[in-house]
Amino acid sequence: MCTMHQIDTQKSEAFAENLIGMMNHGALSLLTSIGHRTGLFDTLKDLPPSTSKQIADASGLNERYVREWLGGMTVGRIVNCHVNGSNGREPLFSLPAEHAAFLTRDAGADNIGIFTQYIAVLGSVEDRIVECFKKGGGVPYSEYKRFHEVMAEDSGQTVMSSLVDTILPLAPGIIDKLKAGIEVLDIGCGRGRALNLLAVTYPKSRFTGYDLSEEAIDYARENAKHNNASNVRFEARDLTTFNDDAPERHYDFITSFDAIHDQARPDRVLAGIYKALKDDGVYLMQDIAGSSNVTENLDHPIAPFLYTASTMHCMTVSLAYGGLGLGTMWGKEKALEMLDAAGFKNVDVKQLDHDFQNYYYIVRKS
Ligand SMILES: C[S@@+](CC[C@H](N)C(=O)[O-])C[C@H]1O[C@@H](n2cnc3c(N)ncnc32)[C@H](O)[C@@H]1O
Repeated sequence: MCTMHQIDTQKSEAFAENLIGMMNHGALSLLTSIGHRTGLFDTLKDLPPSTSKQIADASGLNERYVREWLGGMTVGRIVNCHVNGSNGREPLFSLPAEHAAFLTRDAGADNIGIFTQYIAVLGSVEDRIVECFKKGGGVPYSEYKRFHEVMAEDSGQTVMSSLVDTILPLAPGIIDKLKAGIEVLDIGCGRGRALNLLAVTYPKSRFTGYDLSEEAIDYARENAKHNNASNVRFEARDLTTFNDDAPERHYDFITSFDAIHDQARPDRVLAGIYKALKDDGVYLMQDIAGSSNVTENLDHPIAPFLYTASTMHCMTVSLAYGGLGLGTMWGKEKALEMLDAAGFKNVDVKQLDHDFQNYYYIVRKS
């Protein structure tokens, strides 16, 4: 006998509307990413209401593409269209100042355009991810063509903009020690922007950055050369066995910026950090804010984005190397459990106003 389920049509229609909104916003994220990459938002910010030809000329881009993009930006309510074109006059477009405040390079740490780039970065490996759903395994870091470039822009927002003024003071006394001269290590340093900034700011200290990616390390070294910073060194290195390879009690200050949860073996990396830290040293771990319990993430402002990033990158790169696959949303509970298992008995967790995406763990041995 077949049972008919009663459907609440209002609920069902509201859900369908939600799905359509989701599809529109996903599509707009791609156009927003293009607006950021091509500099179109930066150009629009400085122009009076202009035709697509004027905007294309001012940005040095192809008019046909710019016109179509402006269509999407207009119906997406990101750009204003002042003349609708029906009376034979060409449409004029402008970017409201309130929108420019979150979409242009001048917006600094508020530029959300940077983060929309992840949608295309993740989409570029969709075929590989679908294979993983069927066969398991993962997708290695090297398959994500623009990852390190976008990640460096991302941490430019969350780390670089506030490193010296806001993040370092989370570890009381560390600035004085950096000024006097100490040994510092950055784990999973990526393109090394944070470490290069510290090396220039604190010339008496010595800085080391490790990352798996040769490409990211080459970029970091070039930057150090450009800054004439001889107190920083970068090494392409797989930290999977850092628990064995780490030098004992060598570093006064160890940092990791968004770089533990996607390690193949975060447990071994944390054990290595414990081993490499001097007894009175400090480990500053910035990692994704969230709970290990999914239902506690329902009101998290970007949880859907973070679970997507996890499925299509963070969990997956770890699994590609036979790792634990913790995922982006490993959460505070799991992080504290793993820090404790690595030996750390003194952990303070903070959040900063400019960075709702991350927790800052200030970690000591005792
Ligand atoms: C999310 S990114 C963060 C990069 C950088 N800290 C930043 O904030 O821009 C994580 C970094 O960890 C590095 N990584 C992942 N697995 C690694 C491993 N097994 N050994 C060393 N580095 C690794 C990646 O190459 C990547 O640069």
